[in-house]
Amino acid sequence: MAMETVKILDTTLRDGEQSAGAGLTVEEKLEIARQLERMNVDIIEAGFAASSPGDFEAVKTIARAVRSPVIASLARCVIDDIDTAWDAIKDAENPRIHTFISSSGVQIMHQLRKNQEEVLDMAVASVERAKGHCEDVEFSPMDATRTDLDFLCQLLEATIAVGATTINIPDTVGYAVPSEFTEFLNSIQDKVPNINQATLSVHCHNDLGLAAANSIAAVEAGARQIEVCINGLGERAGNASAEEVIMAIETRKDKLGVATNIDTRQIYRTSRMVSDLFGFALQANKAVVGANAFRHASGIHQDGVLKERSTFEIMEPSSVGWPSNELVLGKLSGRAGLRARLEDLGYQLKKEDLDSAFEAFKALADRKREVNDADLEALMANERRTVSENSIYTLSHVQVSSGNHEIPTATIVLKKDDEELLETATGTGPVDAVYAAINKIVGVPLTLTEYNVGAVTAGIDAQGSVTIRMKKDNQEYVGRGSDTDILVASAKAYLHSINRLLAIEEGEKSAATKS
Ligand code: KIV
Ligand code: ZN
Repeated sequence: MAMETVKILDTTLRDGEQSAGAGLTVEEKLEIARQLERMNVDIIEAGFAASSPGDFEAVKTIARAVRSPVIASLARCVIDDIDTAWDAIKDAENPRIHTFISSSGVQIMHQLRKNQEEVLDMAVASVERAKGHCEDVEFSPMDATRTDLDFLCQLLEATIAVGATTINIPDTVGYAVPSEFTEFLNSIQDKVPNINQATLSVHCHNDLGLAAANSIAAVEAGARQIEVCINGLGERAGNASAEEVIMAIETRKDKLGVATNIDTRQIYRTSRMVSDLFGFALQANKAVVGANAFRHASGIHQDGVLKERSTFEIMEPSSVGWPSNELVLGKLSGRAGLRARLEDLGYQLKKEDLDSAFEAFKALADRKREVNDADLEALMANERRTVSENSIYTLSHVQVSSGNHEIPTATIVLKKDDEELLETATGTGPVDAVYAAINKIVGVPLTLTEYNVGAVTAGIDAQGSVTIRMKKDNQEYVGRGSDTDILVASAKAYLHSINRLLAIEEGEKSAATKS
């Protein structure tokens, strides 16, 4: 008999995008949504359509283009929000409206400045409104775990009665501990008479580092939808990490008695894509996807794994899509070799994309003796950034002179349309000079808030990978770039964030004029 499944709702594009310093273009969100579809998530929460014209556009674009999963938009329990959410998702193959309202005493009193009766009325009216648009409606009482149990049960019963098909219990502030959460969910199931007419879901935040543990406790208590974000992104300390929850369920099916529909071999690639596009590096010891997740350092462990993998490994690295590191490419590798390796990493390229990637690969192999998987991932990320339709400026030339007796000076040539734009500037250091020259060309007032440089691989010839954050009008933008020359990587990262800023501003403008 087939095992019962737990649905995975991915909210990387909604709660994940609330991570401080995130901010993606519509094309980037679509790229992530397509990858989530490849990973076979059941539901993609594509955004909060009423929150901004840019979010509306992103949800609408994803709803039209990504056909297999359910596409959800979040909406407050406000009639206009619900109608806007519907407007954004109505072309989806499987649309869902997810409506929420604060239910805890502290939030009702201080944030909503309403009483329980008003909240109940708003929730019921909103689910009814959503139900008028589509069959699939999710209701979330925000801050459920700090809500009076009787009131919570009253809310759930009333919203199920008017058609909510999924009831989501958010641990909004990450306050619950697993045993208490299990009891809480058991009480809800005991006290809400119509609970079986809806799918029970949970949405756990990680303020105490317990989001994945609470999600698994919920599965044990009978929840059949878990809300997660790739790499544990999300508001504050983030949401339950998709890869941790999914692999806990898959690895411990024996104990939990349920499975997911996820193609776990897509996890590694999804994680890398999200890390790159959001500009948040993964800690090396991050479960499942961190660089050290399958590395054995101690002699005893290495010895054990060499004799029999299961001595110290509970998951096969390949089961989450970790590329095997056996093949290293070099200067003499051909196009077929590159294509095969990229396919192994999960990239299916069209001819023109392979041409461009091959050119970049040759340039890299000229400077670096061995090109391994991490180099290829960095190369593909660079490709994605430069080939992106949104690249208003591309980098043609970087020349820098600096030293202990020199004033750092940079000359930069950028291409915009077919025009070459050249500027020279000095700075306190070579990176400052590069950024000053780019600023002179682009003329956008920006503040650099963060600059980080790391190495893509080990070795003296390693590529440098630069991540920056910069601010304009209180909004942060991330940029990334890699190259064997860190000044070129720095220029690429800066230009990436500028192109992103311009694309997001342009997207907001055109979405606002359309709506
Ligand atoms: O954390 C939360 O309560 C949420 C809801 C909107 C589901 O994100
Ligand atoms: Zn949340």
